[in-house]
This record gives sequence, C-alpha cells and structure tokens, in this order.
Amino acid sequence: MKIMLAPMEGVVDSRMRGMLTKIGGYQSCVSEFIRVTDRVLPVKVFHRLSPELNDGGMTPVGTPVIIQLLGGNPEMMAANANKAVELGAPGIDINFGCPSRLVNRKQCGAALLKNPADLHDIVKAVRRAVVPHIPVSAKLRLGYDNTDLAVDNALAVQEAGGDFITVHARTRADGYNFPARWEWLARINESTSISVVANGDINSVEDYLRCRQISGCDDVMIGRGAIAVPDLAKQIKCQQQDVVYAPMVWGEVCHLLFQMGISMEEDVQDKHIGMRIKQWLVYLKRDYIEAQHCFNRIRKMSGFAEMKNAL
Ligand SMILES: Cc1cc2nc3c(=O)[nH]c(=O)nc-3n(C[C@H](O)[C@H](O)[C@H](O)COP(=O)(O)O)c2cc1C
Repeated sequence: MKIMLAPMEGVVDSRMRGMLTKIGGYQSCVSEFIRVTDRVLPVKVFHRLSPELNDGGMTPVGTPVIIQLLGGNPEMMAANANKAVELGAPGIDINFGCPSRLVNRKQCGAALLKNPADLHDIVKAVRRAVVPHIPVSAKLRLGYDNTDLAVDNALAVQEAGGDFITVHARTRADGYNFPARWEWLARINESTSISVVANGDINSVEDYLRCRQISGCDDVMIGRGAIAVPDLAKQIKCQQQDVVYAPMVWGEVCHLLFQMGISMEEDVQDKHIGMRIKQWLVYLKRDYIEAQHCFNRIRKMSGFAEMKNAL
C-alpha cells in the first residue's frame, strides 16, 4: 500500500512537498503540471516547477517527486518527458484531468478523455521515449461529462505501457466538490491489471479505510486533505501499522505555517507570502477551529511581516 501526495498547482510546491514529506507517510509526490506546447522546454522551466531536480528528484527527506506533464502532442510530450528524465526525474506522470477551459480548448488535460485513442498515443510515445526503469503513469478523471469511457480510458493507458494510473473519482463536469465516486474506481480496478491509485475526498483515516474498502485499490493519492491535515499520511501509516500516534495539535500546525512563511522571506515578496499563509489557513479551517480564529485575525493584513506576531 502506498500513499502519494497529489499535484496541486499553486498550492503544493517544493516547500509544501518538503514540509509534508518530512512529517512522513508519503512514498512519492507528483509535481505541479508542466505545460508542453510545441518545443522542448528550457531546463529552467523544469527546475522552477521541481527544484528537487537539483537533488536527484527527491525532497530533502528522500521522497521521489514525479514530474507531471500536460499536453496533447505525443511527440512533444515524449521529447519533454525524455528531457525531464535526463534532468533526474524519477518518474513521469501525464495529466489527463485538468478541467481548465483554456487548457481543454487546446485539446489537453480532461478534454483528451473524450477519445481513448488519444490517451493511448500520448502514453505510448512517452513510454517509448523514456528509459524502461523510469515509471510512466497517467492521472485521469472518470470522464469529461460522463463516465461512459472511464474503463476504456484506463485500458488505453494500460495497453500503451503505462505503469500505473491515478484516477480522480470525478468527471470534469463534477468539478471538485461533487462527492467522489469511489465505486467507479472499483470497476476500473477490476478491469485493469496495472495498479490503480485511488484519488478524491480522502480527508481522514476513516475516509482512507472506506475508500480502500469500496474501491479495492491498495494505493491512494491525497490532495486537499494533505493540506488540511498536514500529518494525514502519517496518521494513516500509523493506523495501518498499529502504531500509537497522537495527531498534530494546532500549536504544531501553526508552527509549520510560521516556518513556511520564514522559509519564503529570502526570495518571495512579503505580500505573496501573506497570500500563501491565508491560502493554507483556508484549507486548515476545515479541521482546526483555531485556524478560523487565526484567519479572522490576519485577513485584513497585507503581508507576512504584519502577520508574524498574530501567528
Ligand atoms: C488548487 C488545485 C490545484 C490542482 N492542480 C493539479 C495539477 O497540477 N495536476 C493534477 O493532475 N491535478 C491537480 N489538481 C487535482 C488534485 O491533484 C486532485 O486530483 C483533486 O484535488 C482530488 O483529490 P482530493 O479530493 O484529495 O483533493 C489540483 C486540485 C486543486 C484543488
């Protein structure tokens, strides 16, 4: 059983990955997506989205960071995947779930779910371009506006040589808040021989246990729950291994928040640090009542310098 940290553009960056993997429980992370268009991207683009490439593609505690690519042109996806691997990526993941209208209009992300043959061609080209010991995976939703092709899409990735698939158990039309349809993960899991990583609405140890039971998937990926409960993966791991563990209390979580702010001071503008602190508090509010109080205190403050005392 493995727990992966989900890619979240603008939220799970290298700092957040570093913090969460240090707490523990995650076997791997996936980077925010790198947009592939009509050329091989410069090295600095890969390094900006995954500075971990400077350290063997791993977070400071040694957790691999798989590089995620988003694009619709098989040859360009293959060439950029190859480049990422040359730079030290420990795996390549392909984004077939992005719901953005702008992205979908260019036949990328979730729009590709309308045609399993497109998924097949992209995964096949990437798999061929990348050395065999580097895993190639795909991250799918259940479909574009319905679930009709959910199994066909998964099979297309498998037949193209994908090593595993992560399925966000919602269609594009479901957005982010429609309850995740874990029962669909079971159908996909039963129809495929490669590993299916379950994703969507795993926000507690109880959710994890129920998701595994309903989906039959051994492996999971956690997104928003990982930000809302920074030690969620550790809680799950300890529960699985029958290890007694006291979940983090607000004081510890608040310390993380503070540490993140401090770590950004050198190279990020004060107002942007403030925005990131507020963003994280919005996620934390769901599980920690104190986060709501903290958010109320700092909401009118414009930067981190002003927030420090309140935190
Ligand atoms: C703010 C935000 C940014 C996201 N960025 C990405 C991304 O770059 N690549 C991707 O494959 N999924 C992305 N996702 C989707 C998540 O990885 C995940 O599939 C989704 O949030 C469902 O899982 P959860 O219920 O555990 O959050 C993003 C989700 C959110 C909320």
